[in-house]
Amino acid sequence: MRAAVYYGREDVRLEAVAEPEAGPGEVKLRVQYNGICGSDLHEYFDGPITTRTTPHPLTGVKNPVILGHELSGEVVALGEGVEDLAIGDLVAVEPLETCGACLHCTSGHYNHCPTLAFHGYNRSSGGLADYTVVKRRMAHRLAPGVTAQQGALIEPLSVAWHAVNRCRVEAGQVVAVHGAGPIGIGALLTLKRRGVDVIVSDPSPMRRQLALALGARWVVDPKDNDPVMAIRDLTGGHGAHASLDAAGVPAAITALLHGTRINGTAVVVAIHHHPVVIPPFDLLMPEVFLTGVAMFENAFPSVIAEMAKGAYPLDGWVETIPFEGIIEQGIHRLRRQEGMKILVDLATHA
Ligand SMILES: NC(=O)c1ccc[n+]([C@@H]2O[C@H](COP(=O)([O-])OP(=O)(O)OC[C@H]3O[C@@H](n4cnc5c(N)ncnc54)[C@H](O)[C@@H]3O)[C@@H](O)[C@H]2O)c1
Ligand SMILES: [Zn+2]
Ligand SMILES: [Zn+2]
Repeated sequence: MRAAVYYGREDVRLEAVAEPEAGPGEVKLRVQYNGICGSDLHEYFDGPITTRTTPHPLTGVKNPVILGHELSGEVVALGEGVEDLAIGDLVAVEPLETCGACLHCTSGHYNHCPTLAFHGYNRSSGGLADYTVVKRRMAHRLAPGVTAQQGALIEPLSVAWHAVNRCRVEAGQVVAVHGAGPIGIGALLTLKRRGVDVIVSDPSPMRRQLALALGARWVVDPKDNDPVMAIRDLTGGHGAHASLDAAGVPAAITALLHGTRINGTAVVVAIHHHPVVIPPFDLLMPEVFLTGVAMFENAFPSVIAEMAKGAYPLDGWVETIPFEGIIEQGIHRLRRQEGMKILVDLATHA
């Protein structure tokens, strides 16, 4: 079968590998679509980061590995003991394999499992391939009417869903989202669905335009305006009820702390690749609650249900490319910010 195999920095090879087979408690999928995300770019240009050069403690897997963690697939084989899925079911993959036994796994916070293995980075098969094998609990059946393309978006939308939950806001309130990439856009759509007004800040005119088209109440250009002043102006001087850093730049942290109202919530979802200096004065004076987002936790079923109800239109921000285009049309174009969410089409063969 075809697979995109990561050997190391700037060394991803599209090659033929053996098909994986489902063991006990596992499910074999024919991959339909697999999204490329910022973490893949980071692994490609700056890695190894999430992949390993020594065996992973849970799976024993090390590089080379098949990439791909945002995927939908069709069930083609069931391993021993799997009886609650059927051949032909369409599923979205929750890319976390966890130990199932530690403090966090047994208290519902499995996303904090210390030996967590990420599909597409630390498991023996990944989503950028014709077939992949996952544990039964990693496969979430898509609701009727949810397409395979939509299915490949459930993973990034689950990050956005968890981030929005951590904002602790309700209908009628205002959230400032810094960064209108796929995560910021997912948060915008989720917040709108909950009746929350959204201010989106992004230096890209194209991304601000998209945010408006998808329902942002206001957009701000952080290059032309001080986003803190703009957010305060739009909220009667108070600041937003919550703010989300989906940008990953130091300026967004400043905007979170000062653009959020007293007792509001400042949520960091972006992965910063360098330490950010926060003068303690900037923590004590704003009196906001600062928190983070560790992927997702029990979000897939809710996101799939919302997707089935039409919460997440794909227009204007999702495109597909063929398998052969992964490096040039996928990774390199995303780095130049020429696309938004790029899904690799594995369902169609040339
Ligand atoms: N916490 C988690 O579990 C988790 C999971 C997935 C992704 N992430 C992270 O979430 C972040 C967002 O992901 P994405 O795929 O949407 O990334 P992206 O790179 O597509 O989007 C980032 C956006 O921020 C904008 N930006 C740059 N400077 C800005 C500024 N000063 N103010 C406002 N916006 C600014 C960029 O123009 C871009 O549109 C990334 O850092 C990613 O690594 C975190
Ligand atoms: Zn991702
Ligand atoms: Zn665990």
